[in-house]
Amino acid sequence: MITDEYIKELWFKFFEKHGFKKIPSSSIIPENDPTVLFTTAGMHPLVPYLLGEEHPAGDKIYDVQRCIRTNDIDLVGDASHLTFFEMLGNWTLGKCDKKEMIKMSYEFLTSPEYLNIPVDRLAVTVFEGDETAPKDEEAFNAWKECGLKEIFYLPKEHNWWALGGGVGPCGPDTEMFYDTGKPKCCKECSPACDCGKYLEIWNDVFMQFLVENAGEKAKKLSRPNIDTGMGLERTVAVLTGSKSVYDVGTLHDAIKLIESHAVLKYDNDEKATKYYRIITDHIRSSVFILGDARGVVPSNVGQGYILRRFIRRSINCARYIGFDAKRFANLVDFYVDRYGKDYEDVASNRQLIKDELLKEVEKFSKALEEGHKEFEKVISGIERHKEFAAKSGEIVENKIGGKAVFRLYDTFGFPFELTKELAGERGYEVDEKEFEECFKQHQEKSRQASAGQFKGGLADGSKQSAYLHTATHLLLAALQHKYGYDVKQRGSNITPERLRFDFNLDHKMTKEELDEIEKFVNDAIKREIPVVCEVMSLEAAKNSGAEGIFTNKYGQEVKVYTIGDVSKEICGGPHAENTKELHHFKILKEESSSSGIRRIKAVLD
Ligand code: ALA
Repeated sequence: MITDEYIKELWFKFFEKHGFKKIPSSSIIPENDPTVLFTTAGMHPLVPYLLGEEHPAGDKIYDVQRCIRTNDIDLVGDASHLTFFEMLGNWTLGKCDKKEMIKMSYEFLTSPEYLNIPVDRLAVTVFEGDETAPKDEEAFNAWKECGLKEIFYLPKEHNWWALGGGVGPCGPDTEMFYDTGKPKCCKECSPACDCGKYLEIWNDVFMQFLVENAGEKAKKLSRPNIDTGMGLERTVAVLTGSKSVYDVGTLHDAIKLIESHAVLKYDNDEKATKYYRIITDHIRSSVFILGDARGVVPSNVGQGYILRRFIRRSINCARYIGFDAKRFANLVDFYVDRYGKDYEDVASNRQLIKDELLKEVEKFSKALEEGHKEFEKVISGIERHKEFAAKSGEIVENKIGGKAVFRLYDTFGFPFELTKELAGERGYEVDEKEFEECFKQHQEKSRQASAGQFKGGLADGSKQSAYLHTATHLLLAALQHKYGYDVKQRGSNITPERLRFDFNLDHKMTKEELDEIEKFVNDAIKREIPVVCEVMSLEAAKNSGAEGIFTNKYGQEVKVYTIGDVSKEICGGPHAENTKELHHFKILKEESSSSGIRRIKAVLD
């Protein structure tokens, strides 16, 4: 039977057979990469290796990576969109043999031992070429040799892969589709149209290029790579002929669980179906965010805001189908039982996930009643205005002003998107521009960083970012030297201009304390200490006293960066080779980040 578990097993078996080594899933919260809030693809945590760092497991690796993508959040609830998904991936580092990878892909897709898809049910696309890279005839010919009949050349918008934001390693790709057998929708019908004939299942990216800074031209990578990704849920849905990703496997079981406690059934009406799906998707994402070793809690900024939005939107959906949001705790148990064996941090944080989720449910449920009343007041105000205006022939738009939307956000905790959704249900628009203005003013006042300010970063692979990364290690060492080893990293964000480091400490640091920390780091820089990287087992790293999050499975190889007697941390790199490259370290600011967490911003000058 085709299930998530079965496809994962096939993936593991196949890549072991081909000499690839398994690596564990990374955290869902990216470390040191301020370009995005969440890990969005299997390649994402591997960027340093795609840019030339040696991977401790070698140059042929595979995994299953937990991912969150929020760009299509409004589409969640249709047949194919999810915010959380597992991505099966494999990588060849430092070498880009397209023919070899395409032959492997073909074998996995068609061999009776693996996916067993008849070759006439497969279609593929390859890059048609532009000013950056030529037409990918190599990929085309490799597919032709395999016996593929449906091979389409497509332009950059379809067959070029880069991280969101466009910065980092990138290149042409070849995408593999399951042909459902439906008739072509038109003469030009191809995998580029979304008529439902062709469903994507796998993507091989030929990472031959790098974009260093936003807006710059891609330049050739001296060590190209291959990066592939297969969305697990989507593949299972396609291969089982399921009508959506929600009607098979884990999500289907989650829906059944909700249904046993809800008033409306899953197929009661279109809205109920959509809302069931949103709950199953959003609560699963919340479980993975809260349960992560680098987990965050609901807040009004960054990842915390997305998490809050997931939970609050789910509460709203639960109201409609008559499901008590306190029962989200049952869903937490369900997901932790399902995923705990693959994600140890999620398993060990079961109680924390429930506590935080229920805290947010309680907080929001209270506000929700009041907020709904307020929302109704706003609507009836506009309706009255409309009636009145109609008498004089004036037409009033069905639009809620940004100030009212902001009040719902600020006073009643309604995320903007929720108000927009409720408004949409009543045939109203919201004034997004005016809301944003109010939000900006508010932000300035509270001087909090918003998700939208994340730019640039270690993903660019610049030397400056690497130096700041080394400075971050020295900073943690300085803090632990001063306050003890209970001080731990709680967040790190590096751009080529500055580092930002969050850590636990119970007080505001004084000027003297800051001077002392600065001096400690500058002394280490002056001592010109080499930065040494060693590969060892996770167990050996732990025994050596290295700093790091020990969530991964034992027996796994990790990199440990040692800076003389000052610092020892498990870390993917990259770093400076010697502390002298850092010149001079300067703290710009120390402030509160959240309760019990301090934040330091610093530069190298
Ligand atoms: N990184 C590629 C993707 O996410 C494989 O599709």
